[in-house]
Amino acid sequence: MRVDLGGLEQFADGVPVRATAAQRAVVVVRSGERVYALEDRCSHEDFPLSAGEVDLDAGEIECARHGALFRLEDGAPVSLPATRPVATFPAQVADGRVVVELP
Ligand code: FES
Repeated sequence: MRVDLGGLEQFADGVPVRATAAQRAVVVVRSGERVYALEDRCSHEDFPLSAGEVDLDAGEIECARHGALFRLEDGAPVSLPATRPVATFPAQVADGRVVVELP
C-alpha cells in the first residue's frame, strides 16, 4: 500500500518524524532529496526510534533509550545493545510528496 505522508517541506533534514499509517508506526528521516522509512520501534526494547537522534553523515539513527545505532538504509544494527535489524520500508519523494510503501 502506497501512503502519502505529506509534502517534503514538512520534513527537516535529519529530524526523525513519526507517522502512523496502515496501523504501523513509521519513523521518516529526510536527507536532502532522499527519505528513509523504518519501523518506529527499536529492536532492543519497545521504544520509538523517532525519539532518538539522526547522524546523516553516518547514515544512522540512535535509539534514545540505550543508545543502539541503526543504519537508515537497511535498518541493520550498528552497535549494541541491539542485535536485530528494524524493518525498513521503500520510501521516495514523488512530486514533492513523501511516499512510503507499506506491506
Ligand atoms: S530500547 Fe533501543 S537501545 Fe534499548
